Amino acid sequence: MITQAILPVAGLGTRFLPWTKAVPKELLPIGNQPIIALLVDECLSVGITDICFVISKGKELIPQYFFADPALEAILRKKGKGDLLSQLKRYDAVNIHVVYQEEQLGDGHAILQAKDWVESDTVAVLFGDDLIVGPENGLQQLKRGFDRIGDDEAAVLCLENIPRDLTPQYGIADVIPDDTDDALNRVRGLVEKPRPEDAPSTLAVVGKYLIPRSTFDILPSVGASHGGEIRLIDALIAQMNDIPIFGYQFTGTRLDTGRPEGYKEAVRVLG
Ligand code: UTP
Repeated sequence: MITQAILPVAGLGTRFLPWTKAVPKELLPIGNQPIIALLVDECLSVGITDICFVISKGKELIPQYFFADPALEAILRKKGKGDLLSQLKRYDAVNIHVVYQEEQLGDGHAILQAKDWVESDTVAVLFGDDLIVGPENGLQQLKRGFDRIGDDEAAVLCLENIPRDLTPQYGIADVIPDDTDDALNRVRGLVEKPRPEDAPSTLAVVGKYLIPRSTFDILPSVGASHGGEIRLIDALIAQMNDIPIFGYQFTGTRLDTGRPEGYKEAVRVLG
């Protein structure tokens, strides 16, 4: 059973400067909710109520959004604003934990900061930018794949078929085709940001993962080759022969809210 999720949101958000000088990009609104609330809702939709935010200094407003505010609740109760009150109480059952990433040394380094908090055999990792819109969200689809695999040691990656000229922007998965299921496939290779002509496929790894606890033991050792930057994909490459790694080609549309144009599109579609 997957009960825990890590949401790394320690990045600097340079593409949204100067806004992100004062306010984390994860708190940009879509309708009357911030982006980060949609990711927490994604966790709740699969029954995950233990959530660890990896933040950097100055991004404390992110967890604060989810903490109870008894004084405000008392005012709303007094004024008979029951609707607003129930919206505020939406996250009461969520256990929020916060760890800091002191230096931005990569997405894998961010996850590593939550290592001591992880208790379950498998943990969900949702990076702050990607939302999947469709009949099911990203985590619901990954979890369905995971339940079919039935192995706590397995990792499941979220895959999107992208135009070949974009492969230099993504980790690319080489999957073993099988005719039993068109969405879930075993991964036999991963390459970080290959040139289009070198890419083994056009299946890009996007920002949602289910990873086993063993990945946390590998992460510290994969930084050396990249000047100290620790990337999750490198840990999974290192584990390729030791654990089953699967890719799930999601159904739906991915919105990358980490880019200003992607954010505008998310507001148009979801706002
Ligand atoms: P990005 O590469 O998009 O970086 O990180 P960023 O800082 O968020 O945005 P830009 O590129 O400067 O505009 C992808 C995800 O990984 C997290 C980010 O918070 C984001 O959710 N991340 C990345 C960390 O938490 N720590 C890191 O060291 C790097």
